Parts: sequence; structure tokens; C-alpha cells
Amino acid sequence: MSNASATTSPPTVPSDPRDAPDVSDPARRNLIIGTAVVGGLAGAAVAWPFLASMAPSERAKAAGAPVEADIGQLQPGQLMTVEWRGKPVWILRRTPEMLKSLTEDTAQLADPKSLRSEQPPYAQNETRSIKPEYLVAIGICTHLGCSPSEKPAGDPSMGSGWPGGFFCPCHGSRFDLAGRVFANMPAPTNLPVPPYKFVSDSKVLIGEDNKG
Ligand code: FES
Repeated sequence: MSNASATTSPPTVPSDPRDAPDVSDPARRNLIIGTAVVGGLAGAAVAWPFLASMAPSERAKAAGAPVEADIGQLQPGQLMTVEWRGKPVWILRRTPEMLKSLTEDTAQLADPKSLRSEQPPYAQNETRSIKPEYLVAIGICTHLGCSPSEKPAGDPSMGSGWPGGFFCPCHGSRFDLAGRVFANMPAPTNLPVPPYKFVSDSKVLIGEDNKG
């Protein structure tokens, strides 16, 4: 469980792509996940409240077992992170304004229909989700594996007209609120969507779907 009082320095930006982290290294991977969690806390201080993640057992994590996330307390606009197979998985509860932005940015995207991107068939749609309100995506950049951070709409560091989304600090890739990468970015594809299903209105199972 995260400590709400934790603080950290911003992630270092490698000048050479070869310096980007190797996520196959368990120690480095844990650092990425830790950075993602603390990054969510930093976002909370600005505009995006963060809900602490659940913690599956070490044995379940090692086995790559599905992970159940309780989204009952997740408020509109909030992002939570859970760990599945050693990767950070984001669950974002999108507001009507966030969903509207997904219909307005398609001309700026590299793969707006997710034809070249990784997701289950039931998430190959404009919102890349089962329920439009909830985005479930793996928070690892598809360029070289850094961890993007959330950037709310209007964040001054993202320039005018920023609709909200995610920014990778390593080489500057930008993703919208469905994890779709903007055109002409280093990242070649949208953020992956893992298999998942809703087991109730307040529980999401990550790593298993109705075919699993
Ligand atoms: S790792 Fe290069 S842009 Fe994300």
C-alpha cells in the first residue's frame, strides 16, 4: 500500500534511448512501478486524486495470477494503479468531459482505431474499454518501457489545447485518455490493454476475461 506522505524526485530523463530502463530487470521494473505509484500521488496534489492500490499476495504476483481491483471508491477523474505480472496497470474512471475529448482528438493520433495496437477485441473501440467510463491499460510506454505520468487537461507544461492524457518523460511520447499515442511520437503504438473483466459493478479482474 502506498504511503500518502511519500515524496520523490522527478524521474531522470535519459539523453540516449539506450539509457532507457530495461523492464526485464526485476529491480528496475519495481522501480518503474514505484515511480508510477508515487507519480499518481504527485498528480493528486495538483488535480488528479490518487486512490491507493491493492496489494496482491507475493505468491499470486509471482505466478502471474489475475488480480482483483476494488473500484468501489474510485471517483470520476481518479486514477488508481494495481500491479499485475510485475507491471503497473492503470484504472482511470473517466468523466463525461474526458470521454468527450476522445471524440475530438482522433485526427492527431497515430492509431485512432487501435488497428496496430495491443488490446483484447472487446477493447478495440474508441474508448478502448468494456465500459466507456473505465480505462484499464498497462502504464508502460511502448517506445522503450518508461513509465508515463498523467497530465490533466490544461496542464501548462503540455502546451495550449492539451486535452488530458499521459506523458512519457524519457523521450516525450504523449497518449490520450484512452492510452492512444499521438502522431509523430517515439512510441509506435497505443498503450496495451490487458485482458480483464468486471466481476461486479465495483470489482475488476485484471489478467482474465470471459474467455479465460
Ligand atoms: S520510453 Fe521513449 S518515449 Fe517513452
